[in-house]
Amino acid sequence: MLDYQAILEEIHTSLKKIENTGEVASYIPELANISKNKLGIHLQLITGENYSVGDSSEKFSIQSISKVLSLAKAFQLVGNDLWERVDVESSGNPFNHLSLLELEDGIPRNPLINSGAIVIADVLLSHLKNPKEDFLNFVRELTHDDTIMYNEKVAESERKTGFNNYAAANLLKSYGNLNNKVEDVLDFYFHQCSIMMDCRQLTNAFFVFANKGKCLKHIQHLTSSQVKRINAIMLTCGFYDEAGEFAFEVGLPGKSGVGGGIVALLPHCFTIATWAPALNPKGNSYLGMQALEQFTTKTKLSIF
Ligand code: DON
Repeated sequence: MLDYQAILEEIHTSLKKIENTGEVASYIPELANISKNKLGIHLQLITGENYSVGDSSEKFSIQSISKVLSLAKAFQLVGNDLWERVDVESSGNPFNHLSLLELEDGIPRNPLINSGAIVIADVLLSHLKNPKEDFLNFVRELTHDDTIMYNEKVAESERKTGFNNYAAANLLKSYGNLNNKVEDVLDFYFHQCSIMMDCRQLTNAFFVFANKGKCLKHIQHLTSSQVKRINAIMLTCGFYDEAGEFAFEVGLPGKSGVGGGIVALLPHCFTIATWAPALNPKGNSYLGMQALEQFTTKTKLSIF
């Protein structure tokens, strides 16, 4: 049996020694205040054992990681009809690019770039009675943790400066791919991105994707076919124009956020989350990517 705790500690020690050339996201002003020296890792095995190191119990803004959870809820609610409004192809572009959206008649390349997640937010607004409350409850159910909250300051900070997302939402609306008001859809989207979690909570929330659709408490939230599709989308689109690099270096489905978090999983085996707020030029955690590369190399546990 591998000594997971020793492996996490080795990774933490080695990454603490290297120069962290990443930058903390500042285009959402509220995120710019976080120290770039944080580094946490949490591993949860499907059999229930937990291992952690560093700042793994400090909460941070999960940002784009929330897009997988909103996709899961929308897929659960509307099934395969979802794919009429959003595609499942890698974009090869940064998370906030709009050029393909115009070229492809308002159908976002995938649900994990901003425009795709905005369409998913629109679906949730149309299908949930109290969208923000119901979505938060879904995330709490997956995680088995009622303390999970939106961060109103982060949501408001992004509302004030989210001009690119307003552009995306307006473009989607002009193509007839938003049914609700731009302002309402973005209010939901900025809130979902503002959810705060620590590394352990992230491994809990994503357990469902490693466990054929059953959460930690063995409740079936998604079918195994839906989970297969969501994992495929994470692998091919979860890191935007660095999805190939992440598959190449790490070899797991996963998702990053500009708050510096990454969560990844090996189906039927484990979920793992890292937090290191400084980002590389593609908007993914500089040290988080390296931590996961070291983890799958040292343990030889990856999908490939
Ligand atoms: O919409 C945005 O720009 C942010 N709320 C989320 C972007 C993000 O996390 C990209 N991920 N690496």
